[in-house]
Amino acid sequence: MPSIFVFDAYGTLFDVHACIARFEKGAGPDIARMSEIWRTKQLEYSWTLTMAGHYTEFWTLTERALDYALARVPSIPQALKPRLLNSYFELDAFPDARTTLQALKAAGHKTGILSNGSPNMLDGAVDGAKMRGELDAVLSVDVLKMFKPRPEVYALVTDRFQCQPADVTFVSSNRWDVMASVSVGFRGLWINRAGMPDEYPEFAPQKILGSLTELTALG
Ligand code: 2OP
Repeated sequence: MPSIFVFDAYGTLFDVHACIARFEKGAGPDIARMSEIWRTKQLEYSWTLTMAGHYTEFWTLTERALDYALARVPSIPQALKPRLLNSYFELDAFPDARTTLQALKAAGHKTGILSNGSPNMLDGAVDGAKMRGELDAVLSVDVLKMFKPRPEVYALVTDRFQCQPADVTFVSSNRWDVMASVSVGFRGLWINRAGMPDEYPEFAPQKILGSLTELTALG
């Protein structure tokens, strides 16, 4: 039965940390810690602003989170900031991302992205990874001016594909994102590459996978 497979972008299809590691030569060993703080703060801002009823686009939050992370890790040269920011437009797709999308399309499924990313960020990442041909839709929350995990965000998928929630398989490496998708009736698949402990027991994923490749074996 053809289904609609929708993917989170950052951390699921695109590796937000891999490209940062390329800066290690010039920035030193603290770059990984800075990258973790950067990603954590980027998400924290999206959650706290949404809960307070406000919205600032994800690109601005990404830059502010980088400023915070660089202030917390002063060993990283501030001069790297423009290149670090630009890395969001040159993100590495995970090695199995494109082949997984191709396999899903070949099997007759529809594919899409649902992301907090600003439209220009997503265009840069999708075109940089040469994935445009494998995606039927690239959906940014920016049109709603609210972030995940607000339930309204996931309705962008059922609106775009004119389908029921149960027709959607939502794939994310972010367990909180899987929680929200299951809570609106999607089939959730959690890509748990790092073997993290499970959470949100009321909103269990249908499957926990170690890679995107495993997804194509599900059928
Ligand atoms: C997303 O791409 C933030 O990873 C999350 O929506």
